[in-house]
Amino acid sequence: MANLSCKYMGLDLKSPIIVGSCGLTNSLEKIQKMADYGAGAVVLKSIFEEQITNEIKQNIGNVDFNTDYAEALDYISGYTQMASFETYTQLINKCKQSVDIPIIASINCTSDGDWISYAKRLEEAGVDALELNIFFLPADFNLSGAANEERYYKIINHIREATRLPIAVKTSYYFSGLANFLQKLSYLDIQSLVLFNRFYAPDIDIDKLSIAASSALVENDGFYNSLRWIAILYKHVNCSLSATSGISGAEEAIKQILAGADTVQVVTALYNNGLDYLKTIHKKLEKWMDKHQFANIDDFKGKLGFVNQNSDAFLRIQFMKHFAGIE
Ligand SMILES: Cc1cc2nc3c(=O)[nH]c(=O)nc-3n(C[C@H](O)[C@H](O)[C@H](O)COP(=O)(O)O)c2cc1C
Repeated sequence: MANLSCKYMGLDLKSPIIVGSCGLTNSLEKIQKMADYGAGAVVLKSIFEEQITNEIKQNIGNVDFNTDYAEALDYISGYTQMASFETYTQLINKCKQSVDIPIIASINCTSDGDWISYAKRLEEAGVDALELNIFFLPADFNLSGAANEERYYKIINHIREATRLPIAVKTSYYFSGLANFLQKLSYLDIQSLVLFNRFYAPDIDIDKLSIAASSALVENDGFYNSLRWIAILYKHVNCSLSATSGISGAEEAIKQILAGADTVQVVTALYNNGLDYLKTIHKKLEKWMDKHQFANIDDFKGKLGFVNQNSDAFLRIQFMKHFAGIE
């Protein structure tokens, strides 16, 4: 019988299938079900840097939010009153008392500010690890690529000083030297890279002639991009790799592990199919491992990573093979 246990950022997991950060991971009841259905770990819904800043503001007086957009200030102030850092640490406490899988906190952040000192309180609440969702588009015309990267280095270095928790960094792919940059991040004493962050995607309503939001629950979105970069980075980074985006079922999970992912994170597929879909994914994964006589996850992890290839040349040849014959 296939053994799904694995290591992820130094933690022992029963399965490489993690529930990614989302609205489903903000309640104890749902997290208990995820654990019962076999999830290897759960990444809690992100708390925003602004929520922590708001708490500091209440404790010590005025702190500027990192925005000059008036509507944003109103929204942040309303949102932060609904969901506090205190509630977040209480959820961690409750989870740690009731479920026996690792609980990973998540902070959505854009800057290296006072909020970082609060990482220690997550550690004290008993959380097993921290995922940083560093969330900003390089859409500032005054910000160079190097300055953009520097923001990541600052946040990570600063948070590393604040806590000894294992740290995962969920990042975007908007960097000019992506392989080089992600490799450098992996040497900053982080324990995982999570590829890739999904940004809010604006759409346009051609009837109302207005900006609209594209659907948040599209399956398979971003899967191949994440697969490519997991395969490129496998064995070239100094930390675990976790794939997020487009893991619709066991097949996509297997592909990511074959490419070199230590774990995969599932979100939209659970919204669309229900939490017990985790059982289906696990059953199919076990069946596939048995069929291919893989007793353990490590027996097939990275088997199809690009590790022995010069990625550039390898991908160029694949591109030629793929497109040359189509007329
Ligand atoms: C409704 C919803 C809420 C989400 N909330 C968060 C969040 O709070 N923090 C975060 O890092 N990612 C969040 N995500 C992104 C997911 O963790 C995941 O990276 C993304 O949805 C891609 O995976 P999927 O294709 O399995 O949905 C959210 C996604 C959805 C659909």
